[in-house]
Amino acid sequence: MMKICCIGAGYVGGPTMAMIALNCHDIDVAVVDIAAPRINAWNSSNLPIFEPGLDDVVKACRGRNLFFSTDVEKHVAEADIVFVSVNTPTKLRGLGAGKAADLTYWESAARMIADVSTTDKIVVEKSTVPVKTAEAIEKILNHNSNGIQFQILSNPEFLAEGTAIEDLMKPDRVLIGGRETPDGKKAIETLKDVYAHWVPADRIITMNLWSAELSKLAANALLAQRISSVNAMSALCEATGADVSEVAYAVGKDSRIGPRFLNASVGYGGSCFQKDILNLVYICECNGLTEVANYWKQVVQINDYQKARFVKRVVSSMFNTVSGKKIAILGFAFKKDTGDTRETAAMDVCRGLIGDKAQLSIYDPQVTREQILRDLAVDKLDWDHPRHLQQSLNSKHVSVVSDPYEATKGAHGVCILTEWDEFKTLEYERIYKSMQKPAFVFDGRNVIDVNELRKIGFIVYSVGKPLDPWVKDLPAAPPS
Ligand code: NAD
Ligand code: UDX
Repeated sequence: MMKICCIGAGYVGGPTMAMIALNCHDIDVAVVDIAAPRINAWNSSNLPIFEPGLDDVVKACRGRNLFFSTDVEKHVAEADIVFVSVNTPTKLRGLGAGKAADLTYWESAARMIADVSTTDKIVVEKSTVPVKTAEAIEKILNHNSNGIQFQILSNPEFLAEGTAIEDLMKPDRVLIGGRETPDGKKAIETLKDVYAHWVPADRIITMNLWSAELSKLAANALLAQRISSVNAMSALCEATGADVSEVAYAVGKDSRIGPRFLNASVGYGGSCFQKDILNLVYICECNGLTEVANYWKQVVQINDYQKARFVKRVVSSMFNTVSGKKIAILGFAFKKDTGDTRETAAMDVCRGLIGDKAQLSIYDPQVTREQILRDLAVDKLDWDHPRHLQQSLNSKHVSVVSDPYEATKGAHGVCILTEWDEFKTLEYERIYKSMQKPAFVFDGRNVIDVNELRKIGFIVYSVGKPLDPWVKDLPAAPPS
């Protein structure tokens, strides 16, 4: 029986391997991690990540051909194929700090693979890595291998959180890059055969290693660029009276553009977009491509602008101060159907409002109180190295509640920061009655019916929508 081992039991390693185990009864899959609490959670009824459909997939194969373990070395040693799906966060210090990918976890995984291997292996880059990483990995493996043959493949993952199971079950494409040598081609075929258990052959694309590595960064950059483009347009819509949803609809009808991924928002979040674009910027700079680097940098800058713009709207609408005012935050995850908060726009918005001394009452159906407090205490960009905890700062300004009506009770304003479906059907009449007047709603996700809420009596701001006369007539907040 073929053995697969995946190093890294995170948002990618866990679901991806569960999908392989589900579809390949003839393959033993072990997912290993150095984080014992994470592995314990994967082996429990309370999985470490919330992802629709994931519980059923794990239940169907855990203990059959899917195993979670902290015995990293044993499972790596036994495997024919080793996937490496460790985190590759933005580097925080040293050369390239703030932009380059931190490959510390990757390098240590590669050195360990070389140390414990006694048989030939295919090593698969599942993590998102800078283009040319495979070359470095090859050097580490081959200089420490004692004659063992390693073939490196790039097999980047394109799943989106919240729809991971659907994406894995019916991927738009599976991408495999490898060396164009006979051994490289053989390795590509071996990995192709794994996916061919459930993915149609025409959706499995093979190419050279560097194209595969770069395609992942390119895909995320283009997706994020679409959101920054529509968000930039949302600012112009507010200034002119156009409605960004109508504009996006009209634009998306052009079959060359297409309708998806054109929702204006308070800003994109998630562990990938910002990190991967910064990484791309760094690679461009290293290759002397200043203009190209600046082009992609602007995608991140517009995203920061959109978050700051939202905070300014809130503060300026509420008479230029939110000091001491209760503001309900509905949604903290970076998107709906996940409990993940990495780089969530809510973090920056909450920090901005706390900076103006607001009292926040936060509700999210999936994010725990501890997670929210930790996020607000940790330095920006520092979710992978949470050293600078300042819990006292936040407990004064933040309460986390388990009910949206409790969050909104007595509040001056409500900010919707994640597009959870349940926010569409809240009893807004009841919320209005329980709030201070005038009562404000700031919809950062375009989930509410603006006209309905205005009829109730709310003063409403919704990203990129024609402004409430109240908001329009107020002087704009001074630039920060
Ligand atoms: P994650 O932080 O959820 O998981 C990574 C895991 O690797 C952690 O549990 C960590 O303990 C473990 N790890 C680190 N070093 C290790 C080592 N030496 N040995 C064993 N375990 C080790 O990260 P993630 O979200 O799953 O992302 C993993 C990679 O996939 C990143 O490169 C990311 O950019 C990429 N990616 C993520 C997504 C996503 O939606 N999250 C989608 C596509 C690609
Ligand atoms: C992304 C890529 O989509 C995925 O292919 C890659 O593998 C990992 O990175 P993810 O970050 O999980 O996936 O979610 P995604 O659906 O892309 O959303 C990212 C952010 O953009 C979220 O904050 C989301 O709310 C925001 N978004 C998305 C918008 O603001 N508008 C949109 O139209 C779409």
